[in-house]
Amino acid sequence: MSMDHVSVDWDRARDTNRANWDDRVPMHEGAYAVDELSDPAHRSDVVRDDLPVLTPWLPDGTLADLDVCHLQCHIGTDTVSLAREGARLTGVDFSPAALASAAGLATRLGLDVTWVETDVLDARAAVTGDFDVVYTSIGTICWLADLDRWAAQVAGLLRPGGVFFIRDGHPALYALDETADELVTRYRYFPDGTAQQWDDAGTYAGDGTVANTRTFEWPHPLSEIVNALLDAGLRLRRLDEGRTLPWRFSPRMEDTGDGSWAWPDADRDRVPLTYTIVATRD
Ligand SMILES: C[S@@+](CC[C@H](N)C(=O)[O-])C[C@H]1O[C@@H](n2cnc3c(N)ncnc32)[C@H](O)[C@@H]1O
Repeated sequence: MSMDHVSVDWDRARDTNRANWDDRVPMHEGAYAVDELSDPAHRSDVVRDDLPVLTPWLPDGTLADLDVCHLQCHIGTDTVSLAREGARLTGVDFSPAALASAAGLATRLGLDVTWVETDVLDARAAVTGDFDVVYTSIGTICWLADLDRWAAQVAGLLRPGGVFFIRDGHPALYALDETADELVTRYRYFPDGTAQQWDDAGTYAGDGTVANTRTFEWPHPLSEIVNALLDAGLRLRRLDEGRTLPWRFSPRMEDTGDGSWAWPDADRDRVPLTYTIVATRD
């Protein structure tokens, strides 16, 4: 695995990333807990952890009967988990392979979900209708160059009174060296306009290799994320930081036993692993 800082235009970066994400799908189908979803009571670990933070902001404290747009829905494990709360789901992703997998999963589970293939930065134009909730969680905006454009899509998709939810890896975590045996920084926290160009044949879940190994990511400080949402007209309601993560960022991380990972005890209070934001549209 290698990384360089490069200047790249968005269309080329996006298309390069899409080829890589298409390639990851078969590995993720085998590694995500897809089979557990055949139990109607089961929810993905991500949705299980997000619901208690999201639902207090909903009019009746439940997703039931609400229109929910799930941005960057990947193979649909979180999307169908949200649908099982009684919501009408639209899943958005730019990967046709991921959406085909997600659609197959929803059909097998007997759930009616609308799937939209688009760059999330064009989501408002591509998706029909507006939404009570826009949801995106874990491994999303690091793939996007322009958070102002992203936040404009989010605000445009929400109805007045609608709720936006995001949980993701904390930018302070992303600055750390994932290979080191102590907490040391390796990557920039503040962006300089360049992308991180990665070359990696593996993925975070499952064995095997991808043919399209190159990806582009962008560091986004917490201030940039919050200010993009505020500038898009959203009202910040909640900002939380977490000590656990639903993937193993570093080999030093310990399995907490509930689908999450954390630093060893001595480091657990030293750096946030996730942030969660709830924002609303007036
Ligand atoms: C790590 S997954 C996030 C979803 C969820 N946490 C999961 O693991 O199932 C990242 C998703 O973002 C999608 N993605 C990346 N860049 C995108 C873009 N510009 N527009 C739409 N989807 C994008 C990928 O195809 C992938 O499905």
